[in-house]
Amino acid sequence: MKIDIFRNPNPAEKPGDESKLGFGRVFTDHMFLMDWDKGRGWHDARIVPFENLSIHPASTALHYGSEIFEGLKAYREVTGQVCLFRPDENFARMNRSAARMALPQLDEEFAVRALKELVKLDEDWVPHGEGTSLYIRPFMIGDDEHLGVHGVSHVRFIIILSPSGSYYAQGIDPVDIMIEDEDVRAVRGGTGEAKCGGNYGASVRAGDRAEEKGYAQVLWLDGVERKYIEEVGSMNIMFKIDGKICTPALNGSILPGITRKSILALLRSEGTEVEERRISLDELMTAAQNGKLEEAWGCGTAAVVSPVGHLAYQDQVFEISGGKIGPTTQYLYDTLTGIQWGRLPDKFGWVVPVE
Ligand code: PLP
Ligand code: COI
Repeated sequence: MKIDIFRNPNPAEKPGDESKLGFGRVFTDHMFLMDWDKGRGWHDARIVPFENLSIHPASTALHYGSEIFEGLKAYREVTGQVCLFRPDENFARMNRSAARMALPQLDEEFAVRALKELVKLDEDWVPHGEGTSLYIRPFMIGDDEHLGVHGVSHVRFIIILSPSGSYYAQGIDPVDIMIEDEDVRAVRGGTGEAKCGGNYGASVRAGDRAEEKGYAQVLWLDGVERKYIEEVGSMNIMFKIDGKICTPALNGSILPGITRKSILALLRSEGTEVEERRISLDELMTAAQNGKLEEAWGCGTAAVVSPVGHLAYQDQVFEISGGKIGPTTQYLYDTLTGIQWGRLPDKFGWVVPVE
């Protein structure tokens, strides 16, 4: 499919002070769009000036949460070359989310090509500062213009770009996390392993309660027994317990993170054993009480590798690794960001130049 390009005649001023970018607040000059209609498939692929969308008030996405999204980043490498990190994985996951939400499949290769074209056009927006990147948000909405609840016949796929700094105000400094014991995020058979907007909308109440108490995010427990650790609001979670690294197994309700997958591949390639298994709250609390919970970190595209300094459950608060970043967490942060920014060799072939 051909991509038509309509350049923005009024490019915006780039942010002056990259240290104040924050996350997802500033957008570039262009966006990618294409439409899908039942019986016709995807059509009208185009890059247009970034602008508000026009949407019918009865649009399916507005009423029934017919929406999926992805998150990845473009990095300005030390050589100046702009690169993506494993974009094929994001579009493969988007297709799995689409299948769950009864939205149409993308041609993954075409989606990567469209993304490269867009990033190339807005390449000057990729920030230069240490730890900054261009956050990429592809999303898809069901957009029928009537109120019946059924499979959609009109869909839009859009990619927007946002030069960003750290997701957390703390940057690489440890974040404090609260284990949520009231709301649940997902159950098996639900939409937990899909990246759909509804999962996030439903998580905000617990997130707000945690923030009121001074915590950055919540750690979710399983939705049935509320006994097993699942993941954090916007990242997967890993622990080092008594010298061994473990992470909750993908059980159908956890988002299969690409950062998680990359860290597991990295550690295993170096001969480090990592357990993917059920981790109970009891086990975690006992390890914390006995001083065996050596490190905890979250991992995700936006959050990168984020050390957990304190973990709270009801009225108990545990300090982890002296409230500082632990050696394994630091190693993973340095290695992953080293590969992403081209400071370390990319022996896995994860880094894709936009050309
Ligand atoms: N879990 C949740 C709920 C997320 O929103 C994210 C972020 O995308 C992740 C995990 C980490 O996934 P990834 O590493 O693919 O960004
Ligand atoms: C990401 O890490 O890309 C995410 O999607 C997390 C987020 C919801 C901000």
